[in-house]
Amino acid sequence: MAKRIVFIFGLLELWMQVECKESKYDNYSLVKLFPTKTQQIEALKFLDEPELGAEILKKSRSFNDSTDVLVPPNSLTLLKQFIENEHLDYEVQPNYGRTFENIERTPKRRVLRGFSFYEYHSFPAIQEYIDSLAKRHPDLVTLQNLGTSYQGRRMKLVKISSDPLAGNPIIFVDAGIHAREWVAPAMALYLIHRLVNDPDARKELDGVDWYILPVVNPDGYEYTRSNRANRLWRKTRSKNSIFECVGVDGNRNYGFKWAVSGVSKNPCDMETYAGPKPFSEVETQMVRNIMMENSKRMKLYVSLHSYGQYLVYPWGYTGEYLPKEWKRLDSLARMVSDAVQRAGGQPFKVLSAGKWYAAAGGSDDFAFGAVGVPYSYTMELTNGYEFVFPERLLRIVLPQYYEGFRTFAAQIKKEFSPKYVQRHVTFQENDGTNN
Ligand code: ARG
Ligand code: ZN
Repeated sequence: MAKRIVFIFGLLELWMQVECKESKYDNYSLVKLFPTKTQQIEALKFLDEPELGAEILKKSRSFNDSTDVLVPPNSLTLLKQFIENEHLDYEVQPNYGRTFENIERTPKRRVLRGFSFYEYHSFPAIQEYIDSLAKRHPDLVTLQNLGTSYQGRRMKLVKISSDPLAGNPIIFVDAGIHAREWVAPAMALYLIHRLVNDPDARKELDGVDWYILPVVNPDGYEYTRSNRANRLWRKTRSKNSIFECVGVDGNRNYGFKWAVSGVSKNPCDMETYAGPKPFSEVETQMVRNIMMENSKRMKLYVSLHSYGQYLVYPWGYTGEYLPKEWKRLDSLARMVSDAVQRAGGQPFKVLSAGKWYAAAGGSDDFAFGAVGVPYSYTMELTNGYEFVFPERLLRIVLPQYYEGFRTFAAQIKKEFSPKYVQRHVTFQENDGTNN
């Protein structure tokens, strides 16, 4: 009898391991640190110590934001000592990985209720939606094939234009370069949906073309969906020939001031490995090509990420200085932040990326510095819930962020749309005459 019970338990355990693979983070604690003095911010360098084995999820900029780290159970004492020495305010959330859900329910729900913008979807479901949207709105939506990701997933750029021959300025939005930042592709899809299906969006489409790539890193995205153990994966899934380790941080892989700051040279680094060379990843090559092929008309680039509610602009590779055009970058960002706030959302923290923390090889710097896109931003969506922003709150925040994009569009139209600029000039000329 006893033997039988042992046997059954053994089977049960085996099943548990296969079915709900444990997450490395199951016993990790999420620790949020709230520095209030410059000296404390300096001291946070301690978190990089390899022996601590901590993973930094978000860095804080100055005093109104937390630095968030995931800490393995055996390092908690060491970290608490540090916290006490530095008199830091902090919060701890134990067993962090256990809060992640496994996802197996999407296909069923989709069949039952159609595509909802307030849910996280699989990459195939996203592609299917985009294909059907283009079929339903051939006058407005065209898809450009970009080739395949490292693992062979077909990638398509969504182009939305009410007048493709007008030579309008282009707003280019991408999302999901970082696999775990699920709210970013969700926002990109919501943006596509509003632009195409909302009759009021004619204004946003008049004189401006939108190019949107909702999932830059589909291999990583699917990996984070495959099992809750992989939920916090950030990089691509490419394999390095020499090392066993997988993946490159796409947002350290762009070929502008590549690897000069804020990167890891170690392929086994979970977070910021810059890759063996600039643009080593097919996925960043695709984004580069979109930018280069449209460099003349591209006037705004926004890369969607999460989290922290930041709207940052170049330079990202350095916090020492700003581009000479920084004031217009800053003022448009503040207008966007105001619009989001008016819609009931939280304002963004607006500053240069490098003053938040310096990191080279980002797409924003490449767009601005190498391609010459006059307005270039990284938008860090949401605050709270870290990378696991709950689905049920999407219906609240996505429409708020959309108002920010309307403000972006209004500015691009005013400054660059041939139609608008001409009308404006004509108006001024007429002003000078007496008839
Ligand atoms: N969280 C983003 C990242 O680490 C911020 C990027 C900002 N841009 C930059 N060039 N550093 O990739
Ligand atoms: Zn990111």
